[in-house]
Amino acid sequence: MTNKVETLQKKLAEAALGGGQNRIDAQHKKGKLSARERVELLLDEGSFEEIGALVTHRTKDFDMENQIFLGDGVVTGYGTVNGRLIYVFSQDFTVFGGSLSETHAEKICKIMDMAMKTGAPVIGLNDSGGARIQEGVRSLGGYADIFYRNVRASGAIPQISAIMGPCAGGAVYSPAITDFVMMVENTSYMFVTGPNVVKTVTNEEVSSEELGGAMTHATKSGVTHLTSANDFECIQQIKQLLSYIPQNCEETPAKLPYELGDEIREVLETIVPENANQPYDMREVISGICDTESFMEIHKDYAENIVVGFARLAGRSVGIVANQPISLAGVLDIESSKKAARFTRFCDCFNIPLVVLVDVPGFLPGTDQEWKGIITNGAKLLYALSEATVPRVTVITRKAYGGAYDVMNSKHIGADMNFAWPGAEIAVMGAKGASEIIFKKEISEAADPAAKLVEKEAEYAKLFANPYTAAERGFIDEVIEPRFTRRKLIKAFAMLENKVDHLPKKKHGNIPL
Ligand code: COA
Repeated sequence: MTNKVETLQKKLAEAALGGGQNRIDAQHKKGKLSARERVELLLDEGSFEEIGALVTHRTKDFDMENQIFLGDGVVTGYGTVNGRLIYVFSQDFTVFGGSLSETHAEKICKIMDMAMKTGAPVIGLNDSGGARIQEGVRSLGGYADIFYRNVRASGAIPQISAIMGPCAGGAVYSPAITDFVMMVENTSYMFVTGPNVVKTVTNEEVSSEELGGAMTHATKSGVTHLTSANDFECIQQIKQLLSYIPQNCEETPAKLPYELGDEIREVLETIVPENANQPYDMREVISGICDTESFMEIHKDYAENIVVGFARLAGRSVGIVANQPISLAGVLDIESSKKAARFTRFCDCFNIPLVVLVDVPGFLPGTDQEWKGIITNGAKLLYALSEATVPRVTVITRKAYGGAYDVMNSKHIGADMNFAWPGAEIAVMGAKGASEIIFKKEISEAADPAAKLVEKEAEYAKLFANPYTAAERGFIDEVIEPRFTRRKLIKAFAMLENKVDHLPKKKHGNIPL
């Protein structure tokens, strides 16, 4: 028996080394952790149970039968993060560059299937040179097996992808389908075709970093939701993100213990400037409303005219969608609509209530937006919010103009509670623009057209640049002093805790994609 146990121990020790110490050292030299170190860092100490450590590839071509590495380039298994069950796969760049073989894919599929049966999140730590070139279509089939499972699992269990090295070609589509993509700055990149192919096809010269590095995807494409300085920070972000999210679509997020006593926040009284054209940072409103330092912003550097992220209200997890007046005056455009719609749908999938903070002058005008489809894309946010059955509460802090008033979680599209601050302006458009249209003749015929415009503007503003016309009709449930906002929200979400709302029976809706 001793010999047999020794054989097992030898094999496990061999598997633990992946592609060997030299390649692990090379990985460290690049500032990257090894696949196993990442798993250890992610999971609670001692909780990792590996599945398939002894799996090997089955390829005989290109002398591959003489190049066997136990585990075949991916560490898979389960464990806990803060006591909660999590499935994880971590690609091992030291084995054939973490490339995906048929068996490598089978290992990933196995834990995804288990995650679906047991209702727990899957975390993918990606670091791979793509399809295992020596395996051809068998490797491509492996990718598709994973994509299929990603799609089937979407909305049922949370899926998070961290990109901690290369992720190119077909490999990008698994992360793209998952709920959140995270990238490590300077050591990770994602693209469908790399710089060499780009040069051949389009004659563009571009570096990997510029084409598909973390900051490119965080600012230009929006492919990545979060970036981090290194592997360590990336893994801490995954843990933080998980803390807001339930295990699956049947559960609600864990409520943290919270001592009340700070529900009234005077700071909220002074954030919005007197002058309606002056910007302010909506993040100050968010931190004024939420539990101290509980806000985790998502997609921070992309479409900055809308802010989305997770926070807590008296220990309860909430999703925040908020116009951002310091960027493009908080206008809704194609990118911000898509960003907010995707976030809204995630929250709705996983029973996370929504807080919508409104200060929006309307949709962005212009040929660029119209020709790129602001109609279809703006409709995504309208659709996502209308479809959401989670508790939804709106606070209008200042402007709510035009169609954007409807879109930003108005009462009409199913919001449960709608609050407005006393300075709110709820109208078809700003007083100046409105007066120029409806009093056009009167103004042009006046002895002093400029003075007439000012007079008419004041008349229009008096009537509509306030929250009271909307409150009279019940479109606003309550006009509240800013300092009471946090208390109102805490009470509203407690009241809505057992909300039940079902969509009509259908196969699935047809969101304007
Ligand atoms: N299939 C099989 N082996 C691969 C591989 C792949 N797709 N990608 C990398 N490898 C192997 C390399 O042969 C090398 O093996 P070795 O350690 O035995 O020498 C090892 O992984 C590391 O690769 P290397 O090229 O030395 O690392 P790098 O950091 O300089 O470059 C990549 C990394 C990913 C940019 C580069 O390996 C690459 O371009 N790979 C191919 C990407 C691709 O086109 N994939 C298929 C399309 S999906």
